[in-house]
Amino acid sequence: MLSQTASAFVLLTTAVAAFQTCVVPFGGPGVDDSDAVRALLSNCSSDSEIVFSSCTTYNVSTPIDFGNLSNVTISILGNLDLPTSIPYVQSLVNATAKQRLSWFTIAGTDVVLQGNQNPMEGFIYPHGEQWWAAAQYVTPLGGLPLRPHGFSINVNRTIIRYMKVSKPIAWNFALSGSDYAVHDNWIDASYDLNTPNVFPFNTDGYDVKGPNFTFYDNHVFNGDDCVAVNNGAHDVYITDMICEGGHGISLSGTDDISNITFNNITSRNSLYATRFKSSLDSQGNVSDVHWQNIYVLNATFPVFATSVYFDQNTNRGKTPGVYPANSTATFISNFSWVNASGTINDMYPGDGSCTTDPCWYHVANATNTAGVTLQLLNGTASSVHLENIDLMPIDGKGVSNTYCDPDSFVDGTADLGIVCANGPYQAA
Ligand SMILES: *[C@@H]1O[C@H](CO)[C@@H](O)[C@H](O)[C@H]1NC(C)=O
Ligand SMILES: *[C@@H]1O[C@H](CO)[C@@H](O)[C@H](O)[C@H]1NC(C)=O
Ligand SMILES: *[C@@H]1O[C@H](CO)[C@@H](O)[C@H](O)[C@H]1NC(C)=O
Ligand SMILES: *[C@@H]1O[C@H](CO)[C@@H](O)[C@H](O)[C@H]1NC(C)=O
Ligand SMILES: *[C@@H]1O[C@H](CO)[C@@H](O)[C@H](O)[C@H]1NC(C)=O
Ligand SMILES: *[C@@H]1O[C@H](CO)[C@@H](O)[C@H](O)[C@H]1NC(C)=O
Ligand SMILES: *[C@@H]1O[C@H](CO)[C@@H](O)[C@H](O)[C@H]1NC(C)=O
Ligand SMILES: *[C@@H]1O[C@H](CO)[C@@H](O)[C@H](O)[C@H]1NC(C)=O
Ligand SMILES: *[C@@H]1O[C@H](CO)[C@@H](O)[C@H](O)[C@H]1NC(C)=O
Ligand SMILES: *[C@@H]1O[C@H](CO)[C@@H](O)[C@H](O)[C@H]1NC(C)=O
Ligand SMILES: *[C@@H]1O[C@H](CO)[C@@H](O)[C@H](O)[C@H]1NC(C)=O
Ligand SMILES: *[C@@H]1O[C@H](CO)[C@@H](O)[C@H](O)[C@H]1NC(C)=O
Repeated sequence: MLSQTASAFVLLTTAVAAFQTCVVPFGGPGVDDSDAVRALLSNCSSDSEIVFSSCTTYNVSTPIDFGNLSNVTISILGNLDLPTSIPYVQSLVNATAKQRLSWFTIAGTDVVLQGNQNPMEGFIYPHGEQWWAAAQYVTPLGGLPLRPHGFSINVNRTIIRYMKVSKPIAWNFALSGSDYAVHDNWIDASYDLNTPNVFPFNTDGYDVKGPNFTFYDNHVFNGDDCVAVNNGAHDVYITDMICEGGHGISLSGTDDISNITFNNITSRNSLYATRFKSSLDSQGNVSDVHWQNIYVLNATFPVFATSVYFDQNTNRGKTPGVYPANSTATFISNFSWVNASGTINDMYPGDGSCTTDPCWYHVANATNTAGVTLQLLNGTASSVHLENIDLMPIDGKGVSNTYCDPDSFVDGTADLGIVCANGPYQAA
């Protein structure tokens, strides 16, 4: 009896001691609170909760590498304020080996990164808007040099929830590792759609690489991919997401990608609503990619696939659409778009990311009401299917057009679900 009570007590105290709360102290005016975080890490990198207190705006003046965490929750209940000086941040990025710096770096296993469910606090403030405004005066256009990334996370078994990023400088979450649940996060790189000179270049919402990711109830307003699923991604399910501005819900890779589903996506004022993007002269395989239940409001390219993308910034002068006979491209199989409806932006097509002539997103011979664009190199696709596509120009004038080349498909176009030709959209 006594010994049972004693051992129960020992178990209890062990459990309590094992999971500790580490509150990040607030240093006050002029103090870089990142130092206090680093000091905590020697004690708090396993079985701990690291708490940025509510009602506090921390000064995160230097990047934080949380190192290898094990069973740790990071709770951002207060706000994190990043530096306002552009030259200072650039000098930090410049000082890194490959000029690549993430402001927050997290590795390990079993990590929860969470914000505050109270909509009024738990914000991260990188002050990106001043970077976007300054970029219009610096050539080459396309964003200032030496920009930091936001979060770089390489963890097995991760939850990211309730995070709120307000005005990121550029890229937001680079996710690798495995077994992710990402939900109820808000990335706000919102910008004035009709001020073309101020554009949040490269503000990717999420870059995804690895097996087993589930995303739900996330919201992104930005100027690049809402979500980019990259090489090495498998078994990814992204549902109930809102993407505004930006370049859509995107499969952006060349090889080693399979079993990806995008479901119930609302796309508002985006250049692309759904996109497959692989590069000219790539080699590899991408299979089982499905976009379903897509609600499109005012997209320039609602349903879009290219296997022949090339960066207009680094290929100035090349004519898009003209490929040497020996060109290669990623092979895609079992792709579908099912239930996509809404409006095509034919009144003000394009977005502020156009810094070249022709624009990087120009498609030779496509019309400005191209509801469906399948720009796939000869013989690089099989088992592609479209069904229940219902798109119309936002001004009600004209029809939704298709851009499609039957030579793309090694298995022919009988099961494509649409008439494959350049001209008015027709189901088949
Ligand atoms: C994390 O720590 C808590 C509290 O000690 C414990 O209950 C839980 O089992 C741990 N989880 C893992 C995956 O180690
Ligand atoms: C943040 O920390 C830096 C470095 O110590 C300091 O120069 C700056 O004044 C601090 N900012 C605030 C708002 O306290
Ligand atoms: C880490 O834990 C040790 C022992 O509990 C304690 O003495 C020390 O102050 C702690 N350090 C920090 C930074 O919390
Ligand atoms: C980057 O660092 C190099 C030296 O490594 C220096 O010459 C250059 O001026 C720096 N650029 C900026 C923008 O800080
Ligand atoms: C994470 O998972 C991958 C495969 O899913 C495995 O190769 C790797 O060893 C794991 N890392 C850790 C730290 O458990
Ligand atoms: C996928 O990840 C989730 C969340 O971490 C986990 O619960 C689930 O067991 C994983 N599935 C597989 C097949 O590993
Ligand atoms: C595809 O991924 C989903 C998770 O999104 C998973 O449930 C399913 O088992 C995977 N299918 C295959 C064939 O691996
Ligand atoms: C689709 O996602 C939205 C959030 O973007 C959600 O409000 C809605 O309930 C979802 N619809 C269905 C049918 O699940
Ligand atoms: C459609 O999107 C374009 C480009 O982002 C924007 O200029 C225009 O105002 C939008 N139209 C409507 C009706 O929202
Ligand atoms: C565009 O159309 C013209 C005229 O039909 C044709 O000569 C040219 O090859 C087409 N270009 C592309 C890239 O399809
Ligand atoms: C694609 O196929 C068409 C017709 O077979 C041919 O005229 C064209 O040269 C091919 N293009 C490439 C890049 O192989
Ligand atoms: C195609 O041929 C050109 C000229 O010979 C060469 O420069 C290029 O590397 C080749 N491309 C591929 C993908 O083989």
